[in-house]
Amino acid sequence: MSKRFYITTAIDYVNGQPHLGHAYEKVITDVIARARRSLGQEVFFLTGTDEHGQKVERAARAEGREPQAYCDELAARFQALTLKLNLSNDDFIRTTQPRHRAVVAALLNKLHAQGDIYKAPYRGWYSWKEETFLTDKDREPDGTFAPQWGEVTEIEEENWYFRMSRFQDWLIGHIEANPGFVRPDYRRNEVLGFLRTQKLDDLCISRPKARLSWGIPIPFAPDYVNYVWFDALTNYFSLPASLGDPVATAPLAGFYAAPEGAPGTELWPADVHVIGKDIVKFHAVYWPIMLQAAGVPLPRTVLVHGWWQKDGAKMSKTTGNVVDPIAVVDEWGADAFRYYVVRELAIGPDGNWTDAGFRARYAAELANGLGNLVNRSLSMLRRYRGGIVPARSDALAAEVTPIIESVRRDLLDFELQSALQRIWGLVNRANQYVDHTAPFKLAKDPAQAARLDEVLYNLVETCRLLGLLLWPFIPGSAEKIFSQLALPGAPNRLADAAWGGMNPGHPVGEPQPLFPRREATGP
Ligand code: MSP
Repeated sequence: MSKRFYITTAIDYVNGQPHLGHAYEKVITDVIARARRSLGQEVFFLTGTDEHGQKVERAARAEGREPQAYCDELAARFQALTLKLNLSNDDFIRTTQPRHRAVVAALLNKLHAQGDIYKAPYRGWYSWKEETFLTDKDREPDGTFAPQWGEVTEIEEENWYFRMSRFQDWLIGHIEANPGFVRPDYRRNEVLGFLRTQKLDDLCISRPKARLSWGIPIPFAPDYVNYVWFDALTNYFSLPASLGDPVATAPLAGFYAAPEGAPGTELWPADVHVIGKDIVKFHAVYWPIMLQAAGVPLPRTVLVHGWWQKDGAKMSKTTGNVVDPIAVVDEWGADAFRYYVVRELAIGPDGNWTDAGFRARYAAELANGLGNLVNRSLSMLRRYRGGIVPARSDALAAEVTPIIESVRRDLLDFELQSALQRIWGLVNRANQYVDHTAPFKLAKDPAQAARLDEVLYNLVETCRLLGLLLWPFIPGSAEKIFSQLALPGAPNRLADAAWGGMNPGHPVGEPQPLFPRREATGP
């Protein structure tokens, strides 16, 4: 067995319902995962939920629930979202699962045994209402703490610290030597800027149980639970370890044994961690240092996406300004959602959801663009040639082949928006080809029969290739294209996509609208 391409998403807090931001990240990760599979790689795609810590405990208590029961219910919502969005994830990790907790404990034990975790007193200003320590940055200009913090008193408590500070120079060197470690470049520069100008402190990795009980116990200090970020980051590694991946389990030797019968799937190191811009420091600073200290090879790329707003404003439950991905999918279909979010936004900058923009892309690009092309290509083939593919013609081959090549490159380079732009270049070109060649006129003139064959072949072959190109993005629709073309199997082999694969004499199936035209209501 060889190592698979291992890609992960951030794991979502279960302190509320899934929203557009969660769904967006999962979709772009799925597109990358499917693209790699389609290009012939073995892939493992992991997503999941982050269930410990104060945020989640408070959300549970606010509903009068026990945290575990509350998490079970919310995690099920997030898992349901993976199905709604047609994600191809291979597993779904929950940080409350024993398979995860065991690896967190092992990692803590190893770092402790080698002297990288120590106990020290901490003195600071504590907000009892928000259950958090405040710093000078939280003070008002007059030096006081705002009323939102409630009662604030200075307290001292002992905690456990991870020796992170000594890795600062090493990490700067690592990021300098590995330009692809944080992408896009401007995020990498932010991390380097931060590391070069601010001194890294050791990381407090414990919370006294008296203050917070909802967490993984520190194995060598039973009065404490583990800080939620240490716990959460470890999910990327705990899953491979629990599957018996030798690269993941070797550094834990003596502290951890994979479950009996674990398949030994080789995943580690992760190839891509897909995350949002707000959690770069955790992934590009804390996480590599945790791994380096534990003697674990580092992930290859942290890929950072931007944040969505709705109608130019931050999404917020209190103002009702949210996009509910489940409602959008229920009304418009998973592919319409997937298409819009990937087409609207490259991986990096921030985006803005508008319902009008969503409807406009649906109507122009999906229904009138792609849907219309496939529909009329098949309808004409059936009407004029009884649905039988005519002799091969390469009229569009010279235009299509470089597009396939560029899309492959874009997919490998995480340039998903660019790939869709190129694919729609082809959709538009093919629709224009219909308008220019006017098959309905050719069909009236028997002397033009060969010319009509040529046009119909080029259209139906372009539809086949579009199915292959689009499968990573809109898999359901790509599969419909293939089934309407009566092609066997799924359109999931972009690796060997090349002009001329449609066989003359092949009988196609019936066209069905891919994207039904919609009244201008919703989403
Ligand atoms: N639980 C942590 C991540 C731990 S990863 C080891 C967390 N959870 S979260 O639920 O708050 O966010 C999950 C992901 O969704 C993050 O990558 C975050 O950036 C992303 N998004 C949350 N809101 C978003 C938008 N409005 N837009 C795009 N992505 C957003 O952070």
